[in-house]
Amino acid sequence: KMSRKFCVGGNWKMNGNKAEIAEICKGLTAGPLDPNTEVVVGCPAPYLSYARGLLPASVGVAGQNCFKVAKGAYTGEISPAMLKDIGADWVIIGHSERRQIFNESDELIADKTAHALAEGLKVIACIGETLQERESGQTEAVVFRQTKALANVIKDWTNVVVAYEPVWAIGTGKTATPQQAQEVHAALRKWFTENVSADVAASVRIQYGGSVTAANCRELASQPDIDGFLVGGASLKPEFIQIVNARQ
Ligand code: G3P
Repeated sequence: KMSRKFCVGGNWKMNGNKAEIAEICKGLTAGPLDPNTEVVVGCPAPYLSYARGLLPASVGVAGQNCFKVAKGAYTGEISPAMLKDIGADWVIIGHSERRQIFNESDELIADKTAHALAEGLKVIACIGETLQERESGQTEAVVFRQTKALANVIKDWTNVVVAYEPVWAIGTGKTATPQQAQEVHAALRKWFTENVSADVAASVRIQYGGSVTAANCRELASQPDIDGFLVGGASLKPEFIQIVNARQ
């Protein structure tokens, strides 16, 4: 775990306006942020450039989605090249809200991921089971299927962070227990050993996401296979700094 740099992402989702984003960026600029933690914020597309200009260089900026090709007649879509061009160096792909509300398939998510990586972006690739899937004992089958779709197209995992976000924990205040999260993270790492390589299994960072707060982040962060967080609601608040600093 020591060799994997702790990585905390904030996913602002479709929240914020210029005034609110300026306030969040001011908080992140003041910090202090643990220098041993990599920090990245997923900002709504219209404000990416604005947030980039307000944040210190040490804080990465991520798009929350992108399309699978570089340019063309795809009204409303945003390409990885455009994200790079305005100074974003990351993109969040395959969030459960994209999967569920916008019907994104494992295959589309894989295609987007492959293209984003080819364009030089770093990717936070999201996976996770629904409550119904967990209750019917399918958690591992679901997260392995989602990860397999990614592994089919990813040749180099260096620029990929996996975010395990159980859907039932997202925005519900119902955080996975540290044991529940650790169990899935360990299973994923074993899957990587058996299906990708021991090197990737040892080096790929796996974030936990789902109702992470300042109050629960430390115990989660102490789990051996939890390498950071993807934070929704709490990333809009000052407590995000405490989550970034969970390992201090
Ligand atoms: O991507 C992060 C997210 O889905 C978790 O949201 O509000 O439960 O922290 P939240």
